[in-house]
Amino acid sequence: MSDIANIVILTGAGISAESGIATFRGPGGLWEGHRVEDVCTPQALARDPELVHRFYDARRAKLAEVSPNPAHAAIARLDSAWPGELLVVTQNVDDLHDRAGTRRLLHMHGELKSALCAACGHREAWEDSLPPRAACPACGAPALRPDIVFFGEMPYHMEAIERALSRADLFVSIGTSGAVYPAAGFVQTARYHGAETLELNLDRSEGSGWFGESRLGPAGVLVPQWVDSLLG
Ligand code: APR
Repeated sequence: MSDIANIVILTGAGISAESGIATFRGPGGLWEGHRVEDVCTPQALARDPELVHRFYDARRAKLAEVSPNPAHAAIARLDSAWPGELLVVTQNVDDLHDRAGTRRLLHMHGELKSALCAACGHREAWEDSLPPRAACPACGAPALRPDIVFFGEMPYHMEAIERALSRADLFVSIGTSGAVYPAAGFVQTARYHGAETLELNLDRSEGSGWFGESRLGPAGVLVPQWVDSLLG
C-alpha cells in the first residue's frame, strides 16, 4: 500500500446499518410495505406525492435518532490525515458522513436534508417535513421536492467521480450490494485505470468478483482496521 497516493471510497447503506438505519435490500428493507424502487421514482412523485413525501419525511426524521458509527469516524479521520487525493462518494442520503466530519465528500444520490425546486433548481437546506407543493423560497413556484436522485434520474457529480476514478491508485467499496448502477460499475472503471480494489462488506455482493480483495464483516470493525493500516 506504500505507493498509494489517490484514493476513492464508495459507501452504501451498509456503512450506516450499525447506526440503526435500515439497508434497502436486507431484512426490513421495505417501508410501509413498499419497495424503495416503487416509491423513489418521478412517476411515483407525480402519481402520489403524499406517499413519496411521507417516505422521505420519515427517513429525514430518523436522522435525529441516529449518530455516526466507528466506520464513519474512521473515514473522517482518513479524510483529514490523508496527504494525497481522496474522495468519498456516498450513495447514502443520510448525513452521517457529514456529521462525522468528512469534507471531501459527494452525495451522488442526493441528501435528505436538502430540498430541490423542480422549477428553478434552487436548493434549500431542509430539516423538517416537506409538504407536497411547498413554495420555493427563490422562485415561489409550488415545486419543492426531496433533493434525492430517483430511479431513472441521473446521479449527481458524475463528471467529478469519473475524473477521480481515472486517477485513483486505490478504490474501496464499503457496505454496498453492487445492485445499482452507475455506482456498481465504479470498480470496473477503477480497475481499467489500474487501481487496486478492495471491498469491505458484511456479505459477498453482486460485485465481489471484480475486487482484488474482499473482506467480509461489519463496517464498524473492518473500516477502522483498514484506516489504521493506511495511517499507521
Ligand atoms: N457492515 C458492512 N456492510 C453491511 C452491513 C454492515 N454492518 N450491513 C449490511 N451491509 C451490506 C449488505 O451486505 C449489502 O451488501 O450493505 C449492503 C447494503 O446493500 P443495499 O441495501 O442494496 O444498499 P446499497 O447498496 O447502498 O443500495 C444502493 O440502491 O435503493 C437504492 O438509492 C438506493 O443508494 C441506494 C442504492
